[in-house]
Amino acid sequence: MLARVIQVTAPAIPHELVEEIRTSVDIVDFIGEYVVLQKRGRNYLGLCPFHSEKTPSFNVNPEKQFFYCFGCGAGGDVYNFLMKIKNLSFPEALAAMAERAGIALPAHEERDEDKARQREQQRLLEIHRLAAQFYHSLLTRHPAAQPAREYLEKRRVTSEAVQEFQLGFAPDSWDALLSTLVSRGYRPRELALAGLALPREKRDGFYDRFRNRIMFPIVDQRQRVVGFGGRVLNTGQPKYLNSPDTPLFHKGRVLYGLNRAIEAMRQEGYGIIVEGYMDAIAAHQAGLRHTVASLGTAFTREQAQLLLRYTREVVIAYDADTAGQTATLRGMDILYQAGCRVRVAVLPPGLDPDDFLRREGPQAFREMAEQQALSLIAYKLERAVATRNLSTIEGKVDALNDLMPDLQRVKNAVERDEYVRLISARMNMAEGAIYAELRRQSGQLQKSGTWRDKTENYRHNKDRISLGHQPGHNGPEKQLLRYMLEDPGILPRLKQDLGSEVFSDAAAREIAAALEWRMSTPGLPPLTAIMDHLSSEPARQMFAQLMVGEHPLPGGKGLEDLINKIKINRMQAQIQQKIKEMDRAEAARDLDYSRQLQEEIHALQKEISVLKATRH
Ligand code: GTP
Ligand code: MN
Repeated sequence: MLARVIQVTAPAIPHELVEEIRTSVDIVDFIGEYVVLQKRGRNYLGLCPFHSEKTPSFNVNPEKQFFYCFGCGAGGDVYNFLMKIKNLSFPEALAAMAERAGIALPAHEERDEDKARQREQQRLLEIHRLAAQFYHSLLTRHPAAQPAREYLEKRRVTSEAVQEFQLGFAPDSWDALLSTLVSRGYRPRELALAGLALPREKRDGFYDRFRNRIMFPIVDQRQRVVGFGGRVLNTGQPKYLNSPDTPLFHKGRVLYGLNRAIEAMRQEGYGIIVEGYMDAIAAHQAGLRHTVASLGTAFTREQAQLLLRYTREVVIAYDADTAGQTATLRGMDILYQAGCRVRVAVLPPGLDPDDFLRREGPQAFREMAEQQALSLIAYKLERAVATRNLSTIEGKVDALNDLMPDLQRVKNAVERDEYVRLISARMNMAEGAIYAELRRQSGQLQKSGTWRDKTENYRHNKDRISLGHQPGHNGPEKQLLRYMLEDPGILPRLKQDLGSEVFSDAAAREIAAALEWRMSTPGLPPLTAIMDHLSSEPARQMFAQLMVGEHPLPGGKGLEDLINKIKINRMQAQIQQKIKEMDRAEAARDLDYSRQLQEEIHALQKEISVLKATRH
């Protein structure tokens, strides 16, 4: 979101225009095109499109033109909504809204290089779209594609799936695609750049990369064809040929089927990852539309980040062979580190998801993914049991060491106990020994500091974010911010009453600072602009929540009461502090100090009762 500030204030687009475009639509109408909204009190309420829920917690406030979901914390203005729902950058969302409103954006001074690159990107996208159409129409219509159709039929791929996934056929020809696209005005060199043609070795010219293969267009989350996979019919090498890396396509950054899985992942509340094209298609056909394929075995960090935009709950369902197991372990670690909750569906040996679905059916697959899937530790435990020789002491030590890093990371005591019990039973080891080892290693680790890795920080941050939008959390400070939204002019008075550190909560402080910025900016930017000045996620969530605030603020002496309440809270916290200190002083027989503390506590208590008496 900082990017938004920079891009908007950079020469390109004046602030007023961003405002004009924003106010060209009503947020209720706009979001109403995606979400069924019903009026409740001041707000409109609906089912959140950003996470799966059964009772509505998604609020749209027509006065402030803001939305906020009390379930997942998503919130913001129309731009934020559009960016999130369509996966757009801010400039893209702005351009889309401008077009909708019929407002022309100033053609910003682009460097020639940028223009050239954009144009190239555009041409490459067109080439991919046309190539997918070409292959698809051949597969569905052309006599030469008969063997391909038979092959797909043999593999039980339905014609609906062929349609949905735009499957195609590349004919056994050196230039079928080339000549078709050249006749439509594209240059062979451009096809080579797109990875669809290769230069001839001995003479000038190019030839088609994909020949006599079933074609799987790879479509990104924005519904653009960016690459292809091609499978031989029956046997032949290589079994799959994929697009090389191109300006559009980077193998480790796409997930096959994602474009068709986003909605289902939201509904189901989790996603399934399989290895292959055919696995993903079989799963979708079986109604498990929340499935994506990682395309080969090396699951990457980029793929994890991509998935994380849509779900935090993931089940890996890779083949049970050795390569699949290694890939599973790697994938689990990557997903876990990215902040996902990850489990493994363990397939019977020799079956991939496609085989399994054919044999056992969708219901069995669903059960495997939902009920029987193993947690990270349980899966590693099974692996350790299978690969180590538990009848020897060395084997047991190795097996336990395999699990230790993951066990250390489990901070929740109940959860950790559960795992220790599981490990103890499965490896026939005393629970006490496991705890002793945990303590010993964590002592060492703390010294060397290796465990304080990014993951841990990330998780802590996440925890704080979820605290941030718990209802009632930090009630009075939040309430105070709402008064500030209504009338920013009260800040000096708040400072006078509560000291310069009006807020103790970091997010609240950030919002207050942004409100101060707004007050001191000529022309008084609209409240919505505050969102662009908040850099931390908790602050942005809190702000969006405040903007959809449902209950009217109490008028009259409401603010004064609130200030008193905060003062009282602070004094009560001080009293707690002093009581503790008093205990310590008494333990140390420092009676003078103890008496002094006692007097201070009395004074505070008196002050509190005076404040309480003035409450309205
Ligand atoms: P089927 O054999 O048709 O069932 O394919 P599958 O989708 O089950 O593929 P498999 O499990 O053999 O491999 C998983 C994925 O790895 C494939 O979907 C491809 O993305 C990739 N892959 C497999 N074989 C090759 C290959 O020979 N070359 C390349 N580049 N990728 C491959
Ligand atoms: Mn297969």
